[in-house]
Amino acid sequence: MSDHSPHTPVVDGAVIYRRLLGYAYPYRLYFVVAALGMGLEAGADTAFAALMKPMLDGSFVNKDQHWIGLIPWLIVALFTIRGLAGFASGYMMSWIGRQVIKSLRGAMFDHLLCLPARFFDQNASGQLISKFTYDVEQVANATTQAVTVSIRDTLAIIGLLGWMTYISWRLTLAFIVVGPVIAIIIVYINRRYRKIGAALQASMGDVTHVAEESVEGYRVIKAFGGKEYERQRFEGANERNRQQYMKMVATKVGSIPLVQFIVGLALAGITYMATLDSMLGTISVGSFMSFLVAMLMLLTPMKRLTTVNAAIQLGIAAAKSLFDLLDSTAESDHGTQVLGRATGAVRYEKLSFQYGRGNARIIDDVSFEVSPGQTVAFVGPSGGGKTTLVSLLMRFYDIGHGRILLDGRDIRDLKLDNLRKQIAFVGQDVILFNDTVARNIAYGALSDVSEEEIVKAATAAYAMDFIRELPQGLDTLVGENGVLLSGGQRQRLAIARALLKDAPVLILDEATSALDTESERHIQRALDGLMKNRTTLVIAHRLSTIEKADQILYVEDGRIVERGRHEELLAKGGHYAALHRLQFHGLEGA
Ligand SMILES: Nc1ncnc2c1ncn2[C@@H]1O[C@H](COP(=O)(O)OP(=O)(O)OP(=O)(O)O)[C@@H](O)[C@H]1O
Ligand SMILES: [Mg+2]
Repeated sequence: MSDHSPHTPVVDGAVIYRRLLGYAYPYRLYFVVAALGMGLEAGADTAFAALMKPMLDGSFVNKDQHWIGLIPWLIVALFTIRGLAGFASGYMMSWIGRQVIKSLRGAMFDHLLCLPARFFDQNASGQLISKFTYDVEQVANATTQAVTVSIRDTLAIIGLLGWMTYISWRLTLAFIVVGPVIAIIIVYINRRYRKIGAALQASMGDVTHVAEESVEGYRVIKAFGGKEYERQRFEGANERNRQQYMKMVATKVGSIPLVQFIVGLALAGITYMATLDSMLGTISVGSFMSFLVAMLMLLTPMKRLTTVNAAIQLGIAAAKSLFDLLDSTAESDHGTQVLGRATGAVRYEKLSFQYGRGNARIIDDVSFEVSPGQTVAFVGPSGGGKTTLVSLLMRFYDIGHGRILLDGRDIRDLKLDNLRKQIAFVGQDVILFNDTVARNIAYGALSDVSEEEIVKAATAAYAMDFIRELPQGLDTLVGENGVLLSGGQRQRLAIARALLKDAPVLILDEATSALDTESERHIQRALDGLMKNRTTLVIAHRLSTIEKADQILYVEDGRIVERGRHEELLAKGGHYAALHRLQFHGLEGA
C-alpha cells in the first residue's frame, strides 16, 4: 500500500533543508529580529554564569559593598532581558514557520489541482491527505521550534564555552575533547531518526487512509458485516504507527542519557583536574564556581540540541514527502491554440490507448466522426472501454497513438482550459460538493451566474420541483457528495450543471442504476433537453437514447466492432441485435 515505507533511501538532508528554507527566505527580516532575540537570550545565559565570579569573589570573599548592592538588580535585569528576548524570538519564529506552512500547503494544493488523473489512480487519498495534515506539521516543527533551539542553544554553548575558556583554557580543553564523541553519536542518531520518520509518515498515512475509507464506506461495512475486517485493518495500521513512534522515542530518550553520561564523565575529569595542586593556585573560588555553573548550564542546551535533532530529522523526512508531491509531473498543457465556441465536430483517428506502460491496450485503433449537433451512442459489454474512450476527449489521460480532433484541431494543440471549456460532462456517478444546491449547479467557472440562470437550468433539468421542496430551496446544503439527496435528484443536479455550462460538446456517461419510472421520465426529458443542439457522446443504457442516436458504436475489448443506426444494426443481427434482445426485450412495449 505505502510504496515508501521501509526502503526510503537516506536522502540528502541538506538539500531538502535548503529548499525548505527557500520558503522562509521572504521573511528573512523577521528572522533577523528573531535571531537577535536568540542572541540576547544566549548572551543572558552566559552573563548569568559570568556573574558568579564577581558575586562570589566580590561579595562573599572580598565583601565588596558595591557588588553586593548591585548583584540582585543585575539578576533581575538579566531575567527581564531574557524574557523579552525569548518572547520576540519565539513569536517571530512561529510566525515565520506558520507562513512557511501556509505557502507550502497552498503550493501543494495548487499543484494537486493540476495533477493528472493517473496520479490519483496511483495514490491512495488517505496518504495524500495525511501529507496536508500530519507531514506539514512535522515540517512546521522543523522550521520553527527546531531552528529556535538550534540557534539559541548553539549560541548559548558558544557563549558559555567562551566564558569558560576565558577563565581557564586548560580546563575548557579537557571539556571539549568529548565533543567529537558526541558528534559521532549524533550523526548516527540522525540517520536513524530520518529512517523512522519516513516510516512514521507512511503509517500515519495508512491510519488516515483506513479511517477515511471506513467513513466513506460505512454503508457497505454495515451491510456486508465488514466491521471485523475493518477493525483488523485499522488495528494493523494503528499498531504500526505506535511501533514506529516508540522506535523514535527509544532513540530519543536513549540518546539523551548517553550524551549526558559522556558530559558527566567530562565534568568529573575537570573537577579532578581543577583540584590538582598545580591548578588550585591559579584559579579563584569565584572563577571556579563560575566555571562549574557555566558547565552545568551547558547541559540543558546540549540536551535540547540532541532532542531537537529528532524534530529536524522528522521535518526533513516530511519535507521530502511534500516535495515529492510538489515534484510530481503536472498535466501536460503545451497547447497554445484557443478556440472560441467550437462548432462541436469531433473526430477520433486511429486511436490507441493503454493505462500504463506494459498494460493491455484498452483502446485499440478506434476511428469515428461526429458532426456538430449529432449524437453518437456507445454501447457494449462492461469493461469494454467506453468510459475510457470518451474521457480521452477531455484529456484526462494522454493519448497513446492516433489523435482526436475538435473542430479539425488536434486537442493536444489546444490549451487545456480552452478544450475543457468546450465540453460539458455528466459522469457515471455524480460528484457533488458539500455546498448549497445553487453552488453545485453553478460550479467552478460558472460560479458568477445569476440566480435566474440557475433556476432556468434547474427547471430545464426537471430539478426545480424537488429543489423547491428542500428546506432552504436553492440554498440548502446537500451534504458530503450530496448524501442528503436521492440518486435521481443528484443526477438531475448534474444535468442542470451541464445545462448551465452550455458547452458545444456533451459527454454523457449514463448511470446504469435503475430508477423508478417517474424519475426515469424526468431524467429522460432533462437529458433530451441537454442533448439538443449539442454534439453528444453518450454511453447509453437507455433504449430511448440509443434509438434516437445518429450513430451507434458497439465497443468491445477496446474496438468498435459494429456501427450504424438502430434499425440498421437490428437488421444486421450481430452483436448489437443480441445485446438489444437481452437487455431491452421486455422494455420495448413500455
Ligand atoms: N484508471 C484506470 N487505470 C487502469 N485501468 C483502468 C482504469 N480505468 C479503467 N481501467 C480498465 O480499462 C478497461 C475499460 O474500462 P472502462 O471503464 O473504460 O469500461 P466501460 O466500457 O466504461 O465499462 P462500464 O460499462 O462497466 O462502465 C477495464 O478493463 C478497466 O479495468
Ligand atoms: Mg463506464
